[in-house]
Amino acid sequence: MNKLVRIDKILAQSGYGSRKDIKKMIKDGRISIKDQVISNLGHKIDIKDAAFLSIDGEPVKIYESLTFMLNKPAGYITALEDPNHLTISEFIPEKWRNKGLFPIGRLDKNTEGLLLLTNDGQLSHRVSSPKWQIKKTYWLIVQGKPFSEKDQKKFAKGFRTIDGSEFLPSELNIIDGFEAELTVYEGQYHQVKRMMKSTGREVKYLRRIQIANLTLDPNLELGEMRMLTKEEKSELYKLCKLSTNEFQ
Ligand code: URA
Repeated sequence: MNKLVRIDKILAQSGYGSRKDIKKMIKDGRISIKDQVISNLGHKIDIKDAAFLSIDGEPVKIYESLTFMLNKPAGYITALEDPNHLTISEFIPEKWRNKGLFPIGRLDKNTEGLLLLTNDGQLSHRVSSPKWQIKKTYWLIVQGKPFSEKDQKKFAKGFRTIDGSEFLPSELNIIDGFEAELTVYEGQYHQVKRMMKSTGREVKYLRRIQIANLTLDPNLELGEMRMLTKEEKSELYKLCKLSTNEFQ
């Protein structure tokens, strides 16, 4: 037997508002299934019938969850609203506004590159938390002194700084003296800059190029975003030990 799922859950997860918003729509008689108006706030349906739901007579498009990749430019803060700064919300196309999307983790104002946006809180938590060991790779250019094998060893072991910060093991791939790729498995505040500072370097340029299985799409111009493909999304959920089929 298929599992029955509450309508407010299905529609909220598909980006039609919060569960509270959906309940209000039910109260207002705006939601129907197969032309039958729904009146019970806790109404459950077979997920296979979700395609027959409509709001104000318009068929709905069901998404289990929404996840996008954005190529973030420098000069924008990773927030949806801010009275004093430009925010990444201006890169969200009209169609995807008010769908509950929020950024996963944070890139600094002057950092560029791969930023994920989702409406799935559990996914966001797992991508960010060190517990799930989701890798994030950065391309960076530093000034101070060139990278050496000694740095690679130090980073590989993980280290603690004199001010008490602790960094888990990471992988430093030296490209050319002052240029490297750094892969970390956690998401501490200003992490890369602090790791570099503690080894006597200053980050001059920082771009995130990978999260888990996802590499920044070279076709995305700065400020452009696109939805993850089905394959990308299913691999990401797999790596986060989550099921994409959240309605089941
Ligand atoms: N580490 C930083 O220092 N800054 C970022 O934006 C991301 C990781």
